[in-house]
Amino acid sequence: MLFEKNVPLQAFNTFHIVAKAHTLLRIASESDLHRLLADPELRASPKFVLGGGSNIVLTGDVKALVLKVEIMGRGLLMETDKAFIVEAGAGENWHELVAWTLVQGYAGLENMALIPGTVGAAPVQNIGAYGVELQDRFDSLDALDLQTGQVFTLNAAQCAFGYRDSVFKHGAATAAVPDGPGSGGHQVLGLKDRAMILRVRFALPKTWKPVLGYADLDKKMVEHQCVNPTAQQIFDWVCEIRRAKLPDPQVIGNVGSFFKNPTVTPEQCVDIIARDPKVVYYHLADGRVKLAAGWLIDSCGWRGKSVGQAGVYEKQALVLVNRGGVTSADSATGGEVMTLARAIQTSVYERFGIRLEPEPVVV
Ligand code: EPU
Repeated sequence: MLFEKNVPLQAFNTFHIVAKAHTLLRIASESDLHRLLADPELRASPKFVLGGGSNIVLTGDVKALVLKVEIMGRGLLMETDKAFIVEAGAGENWHELVAWTLVQGYAGLENMALIPGTVGAAPVQNIGAYGVELQDRFDSLDALDLQTGQVFTLNAAQCAFGYRDSVFKHGAATAAVPDGPGSGGHQVLGLKDRAMILRVRFALPKTWKPVLGYADLDKKMVEHQCVNPTAQQIFDWVCEIRRAKLPDPQVIGNVGSFFKNPTVTPEQCVDIIARDPKVVYYHLADGRVKLAAGWLIDSCGWRGKSVGQAGVYEKQALVLVNRGGVTSADSATGGEVMTLARAIQTSVYERFGIRLEPEPVVV
């Protein structure tokens, strides 16, 4: 096992924050993990699993042993009547997997094109875009328990997927899984810092239908005079839409949306409309209302503002960016990012009575 010491993490997080891992170990296979856990001292030491670094804010050097996931491989595992079951290693790049599935003729992931990060990180926050979430195409995953060394398989229900949420974002006994309408749900063992995802399997429908209905995609259909787009066309449009409004993390450090879109009751929504009738909101199937966090932040005047080198992106107020270079030492610090984030939360709360919840994991 090759333990690397004092490893700069700037290239390993898409915010490009300068920080170091005291010790980093690259994990290319399950047997690397078994070797690590065979040592009682290493088994007991705190660990931090690093995927593509596209959903973390580093606020200092990482003292826990950093396990950099580099488990590769992708292929068709099997076919059922209804779906192609495709399996990919946790270290595979997400966007490359999406592009590859389309070349192979397996449609279904196209709305999630160009989301930064790795396959193994995708279930952690149940990534989603343009009407499709990972859970809609998920079959199962294999993970390794970092305490016991056991490999286990989880289906979608066991992953407890929610909006940008899963069992992997919660500590022991904090993740509630809804059992169904009317039930109070039940507690499951949270797996945060406990498990490493090894492989993810996707069920990609043999009878594919495009998922449309998002304003940005509707505009593309009109522009291209196309009523029946192919999966490849949707992939291309999603790439164009994202490139136009979201910063490329290889050029401007960022972690995508910094806050979740909050949900409120219809009564709260009426109160917010009274404060500002222009508020952007969507009715959800369960009767609640989802508010556009980007709009809330924008209407508080934050677009384009900065704290030190941390800023609010000019074209999308939901995205915080690093105004320093992606390789230089003048980059934003995690402290600046969090100071900016807290100032935004305070002003949105004071104006609308809404508490914005950050999407990335603060390390
Ligand atoms: N808006 C503003 N001002 C802004 C930003 C947005 O008025 O500065 C308004 C927009 O005009 C629009 C509404 O807010 O009416 C929603 O904006 P947008 O369509 O850009 O989507 P979003 O809700 O901000 C979510 C996801 C994105 C995903 C897109 C498309 C979350 C937290 N974000 O963004 O996911 O790509 O929808 O599906 O759910 C991510 O999670 O990192 C991410 C980029």
